[in-house]
This record gives sequence, structure tokens and C-alpha cells, in this order.
Amino acid sequence: MAQTEVLPAPIKPRVGRTADPCVMVIFGFSGDLTRRKLIPALYNLASQQLLAQEFAVIGVGRTPMSDDDARKKLTEDFKKFASGAIDAKLWEWFVRRLHYVSGDFGDPATFDNLKKTLAKVDQEHNSHGNYFFYMATAPNYFGDIVERLSTVGLMTEENAHWRRVIIEKPFGHDLDSAKALNKQLLKVASECQIYRIDHYLGKETVQNILALRFANGIFEPIWNRRYIDHVYRFRSPKPSAWRNAAATTMGRAPCATWCRTISCSSSL
Ligand SMILES: NC(=O)c1ccc[n+]([C@@H]2O[C@H](COP(=O)([O-])OP(=O)(O)OC[C@H]3O[C@@H](n4cnc5c(N)ncnc54)[C@H](OP(=O)(O)O)[C@@H]3O)[C@@H](O)[C@H]2O)c1
Repeated sequence: MAQTEVLPAPIKPRVGRTADPCVMVIFGFSGDLTRRKLIPALYNLASQQLLAQEFAVIGVGRTPMSDDDARKKLTEDFKKFASGAIDAKLWEWFVRRLHYVSGDFGDPATFDNLKKTLAKVDQEHNSHGNYFFYMATAPNYFGDIVERLSTVGLMTEENAHWRRVIIEKPFGHDLDSAKALNKQLLKVASECQIYRIDHYLGKETVQNILALRFANGIFEPIWNRRYIDHVYRFRSPKPSAWRNAAATTMGRAPCATWCRTISCSSSL
């Protein structure tokens, strides 16, 4: 049954577009990342009406819990890790969207149960069949989880539904393991379904830009608002596209820099 209830009024002014209706599946629901970072971040999005009304979360982990137990646990954790005052009405709205599937990531039955739960939750919250899978667990599971999702048909995009997978850092522990993980993911998902979060990938590039500016007698006096006309940021799923765009633009502009917040180099 589609829900018609309305998200409570925003606590802070909205700063972006409300996201599409969707279900977020968190692999590693009882873990540290989920309770300290993901849930407070989702609550903050809800507080600015950046989550769709048709949003739901399914947590997956080994610990056996009912939906109600999971909601209770999450509420206790949230009281410890919320970044500000908690709006009780908003939290109630959020926590009622939470569901839980218990099972081992190595067990195919976990993915069968997840598929059934997703179908039920999607119908209950009217989430338009859009699912995204967030890897908040140990990195050695990432590739196998995505393969198992594909085996039960959960990575297939059809009838205008989208399916995405979010890999929380680390994306491999060296170049070879990053290449191997990339290959495993690309066997069952297309590049535009994969989102890699690894702020460390950008860290050195950004630090280098700062060093280049401040430690260089040639650039230091001219890399400022008087002489820089534009700073461009490029994001494209195709490495060749951002490389070409950067090269073309740098030829035109007095100075340009680029960064990719989500690394998606298919050549990895
Ligand atoms: N913690 C952070 O602040 C942070 C920040 C950035 C990135 N990360 C990255 O995020 C990932 C998770 O870190 P974390 O600190 O949240 O780890 P964690 O506290 O150890 O949590 C791991 C989660 O995975 C589940 N899990 C582990 N093995 C499983 C299996 N075989 N089957 C089913 N569930 C299983 C656990 O469920 P049960 O407890 O029910 O067994 C638990 O919910 C890591 O890749 C880490 O590098 C973490």
C-alpha cells in the first residue's frame, strides 16, 4: 500500500533537490559506520526535506533482530551520535521506514530474503523500484555481495528503475586489489551503476595543488581572484571525457583545475 503521510516541515532551509523515491539497503547495519555516520547523515537529509517521502531503509547484518528490535537499537544509537537536537516527530517518521534482514553475506538465502523484503518494502513505501546498495562492511565482502545481488536479479535495471551500488572506502588496499575489485564489479554492473567513495583518492591531488600554489614563487602571486577567471569541476563516468574536457578548457582559461569526487575510472 502506498503511504500518503507527509514528511514533517524542514528544520533547516533546503539546499538541493529532493532525492528520487528509493530504498537504501545497508550491508553492515549494526556496524560503526552505520550508527556514527550513515544514520545521522540520513536524518540530516530528512530534516532538510532532501529525502523523498517514498524512502525506506533495509539494514542487513548477521545479528538476528526483528524490525522493531532494529528500530529500538537505532534509536538508542542515534541519541548518542546525532549532530544536534533531535526532532521527535521527524525521527519517528524516519525510523518507521526502517526494516531489517538478518543473514550472512556468504549465504545465498540472505539474498533471497533480501529480494522478498525489498519487494514488500518497495510496495509499502511506494519507492518506484529504485534500490541502492551501500557497502558499510569489511572490504573483503564488497565484490561478493554485488555478485550475489546480481545472481538474484537485484542489479538489473528495467522499466525505468535504477539500481546502484555504493562502495565505502577503502576501494582495494593497493593498485592490484583495486583493479581486481573493479573487474569483479564490472562483470555484473555497468560503470554508471557503481559509485566509489574514497576521499583519500582526491586528497593528494588537492594537497599538491595547494603546495603548487603556496610553495611556488611563480604561481603564488598570480593564483588568486584577480587573475583566475574560472575554476571548473568535471565529473564524467568516462575518464577520457574528463581528461579531454580538462585539456580543452585549460587551453582556454587562464587557469583551471578539476577533481572527481567520485572516482570511476574504467581503466582501473
Ligand atoms: N567506522 C567508520 O567511521 C568508517 C569510516 C569510513 C569508512 N569505513 C569503512 O566502512 C566499512 C565498515 O566499517 P565499520 O567500522 O562500520 O565496521 P564494523 O563496525 O566492524 O561493522 C561491520 C558490519 O558488517 C556486518 N558483517 C560483518 N561480516 C558479516 C557477514 N559475514 N555477514 C553479514 N554481516 C556481516 C556486521 O554485522 P554483525 O555485527 O551483525 O555481525 C556489522 O554490521 C569498512 O570498509 C570501513 O573501512 C568506516
